[in-house]
Amino acid sequence: MKILVTGACGFIGSHLVEKLVKQNHYVKAFSFYNARGSNGWLDNIDNKIIKDTNIISGDIRDHDFLNKHTKNIDIIFHLAALIGIPYSYHAVKSYIDTNATGTYNILNAAKANNISKTIITSTSEVYGTAQKIPILENHPLSAQSPYAASKIAADQLALSFYRSFKLPVTIIRPFNTFGPRQSARAIIPTIITQILQKKNIVKLGNLTPTRDFTYIEDTVDAFYNTIKANKIAGEVINIGNNFEISIKGILEIFKKDFGYNFKVRTDKKRLRTKSSEVYRLLASNKKAKKILKWLPKYSAEKGFKEGLKKTINWLGQTKNLKYYKSDIYNI
Ligand SMILES: NC(=O)c1ccc[n+]([C@@H]2O[C@H](COP(=O)([O-])OP(=O)(O)OC[C@H]3O[C@@H](n4cnc5c(N)ncnc54)[C@H](O)[C@@H]3O)[C@@H](O)[C@H]2O)c1
Repeated sequence: MKILVTGACGFIGSHLVEKLVKQNHYVKAFSFYNARGSNGWLDNIDNKIIKDTNIISGDIRDHDFLNKHTKNIDIIFHLAALIGIPYSYHAVKSYIDTNATGTYNILNAAKANNISKTIITSTSEVYGTAQKIPILENHPLSAQSPYAASKIAADQLALSFYRSFKLPVTIIRPFNTFGPRQSARAIIPTIITQILQKKNIVKLGNLTPTRDFTYIEDTVDAFYNTIKANKIAGEVINIGNNFEISIKGILEIFKKDFGYNFKVRTDKKRLRTKSSEVYRLLASNKKAKKILKWLPKYSAEKGFKEGLKKTINWLGQTKNLKYYKSDIYNI
């Protein structure tokens, strides 16, 4: 298959590119243009794997550029986005331009070039704090941050292209993913890098919210399974483990299971207003299991701990930790 991956320079995108290339697909990897010529995490992938990848740098806000690069492509995996929730409080327009208009550009290019499958990446943040547990795909949408609002806009545009123009679009909706290469702004790398770099003090926001975490290998498998899956056009599919843990619960694992000794301090900068804090996310993954034939390997508490160990081992290597600043938090 000829596959275009946007956001290929990022956390999930770079792992997806690796998997696609290993499985002998032709991959056009879309990296975010910058003057340094950096291709983000693609620069860290084994050259034997990446040498045949066609890396293109550009910007998903550029409609003409996307039209040009989606010609003769079979499948688009659209992952490029601005993803930080705190930054979305300060740069709303950037989120609209990148996440909503950028997705509109992808959809338009897919329509113009008759792409047979377009996979749009959503997020569990679109549900807001769970009103019903576990969260099914038809759970009400509630934007508690501009990030969530921009992703809802993107999802709804995608569904409207399916309903109005029969564009074969599928929405993959990951709950929190974690693993090597994730940004230090996300909770798990935030905890690990602070433990590894600061030794004994971990600064965090609210410890009570719960999340449903998926290890990166499993998330990538879910994306990968969309290639063969039939009858997924117009569908929204949750990717989550159906296992819920609070931030406090994660800290206990670090102390009790992994033997780390540290104190936790509340950092006011990291606290969100009550109405913007998403308190509870727990996925129903029945649909993914059924229509994507997806079975997470790192499931339940045991799988979560295995994924954590792998992430700690990866971050524990100096060559990887050097990319992280544990004090990165100022939006
Ligand atoms: N990581 C998670 O827990 C998680 C959970 C749910 C959904 N998602 C979604 O998965 C996707 C990938 O997230 P990630 O965690 O890998 O984030 P990431 O930030 O590592 O990757 C996103 C990539 O998009 C690129 N990008 C941003 N603006 C761009 C633009 N204008 N043009 C081209 N590229 C641009 C960035 O440079 C970055 O490399 C996103 O759509 C995100 O909303 C992630």
